[in-house]
Amino acid sequence: LATYPENSITQPPMVMAHRGVPSLKPENTMYAFEEAVRLGADLIETDVHMTKDGHLVIIHDFDLERTTDGTGKVKDYTLKELRELNANKLDPKNPSWYQPDITDAVIPTLDELLAFAKGKAVLLLEAKGIGYEKEMAEVIQEHDMVADVIVSSFSSEVLERFAKINPELGLGFTLSGTKPEEKLDQYAEKVVTDAVQLNATYFINQEIVTPELVRYAKHRGIILSVYTVNEEADMKRVTEWGIGGIITDYAQKLLDAPKQ
Ligand code: G3P
Ligand code: CA
Repeated sequence: LATYPENSITQPPMVMAHRGVPSLKPENTMYAFEEAVRLGADLIETDVHMTKDGHLVIIHDFDLERTTDGTGKVKDYTLKELRELNANKLDPKNPSWYQPDITDAVIPTLDELLAFAKGKAVLLLEAKGIGYEKEMAEVIQEHDMVADVIVSSFSSEVLERFAKINPELGLGFTLSGTKPEEKLDQYAEKVVTDAVQLNATYFINQEIVTPELVRYAKHRGIILSVYTVNEEADMKRVTEWGIGGIITDYAQKLLDAPKQ
């Protein structure tokens, strides 16, 4: 990894609302996305799946159990069936996030989110599966949101598919930090290779992010983001490094007074 000097100007990181603002409103619902806009987040990060009948919906898990009152896999249900589910559920891991007063939260469609976000929010849309890149690219285009969307994936194959379908789409490569045997310079090499080929934006787990990598990314024009950073001490540390973006469940901790 080459060494780059420290920047003389450090800009504040982009505030990236992970699944909306799940600490305040049910994750990946329109309530959570509206909250992110209200708070003034720079970007909304969310997750896209395809239903049994070919519709694109917003939900994180492949299974319905954690966030809805349904059971089984998203891909085994039609959109109509999924829309009947309650998408506000108490998560035992985060009980304080539960909003019992919200009784009408449903799984949004990508179409619905794009219509809402137009003119209001930049979206980071993670394709959770493979094989529906064309459908995603088309609906993004239909809403004239190509300039305001970054499509992302843990899979470089998915990103290459997006790049072929529409080279104007911003690409976000998400690296998991679950392979400690992989060295930082190997990740960095991957970042640079794909950045040149795909004109990409990258998102890297905080476990493998160092101040050196932050400088390196900045020098290459890559928005290097960390996920999922929820503690204020961590936010402060990566901000001091000059990180490009912070993906967080607590956008409110990084933002000033909410925009009315
Ligand atoms: O974009 C980073 C992050 O969204 C990936 O993790 O599991 O929250 O989708 P996950
Ligand atoms: Ca995601």
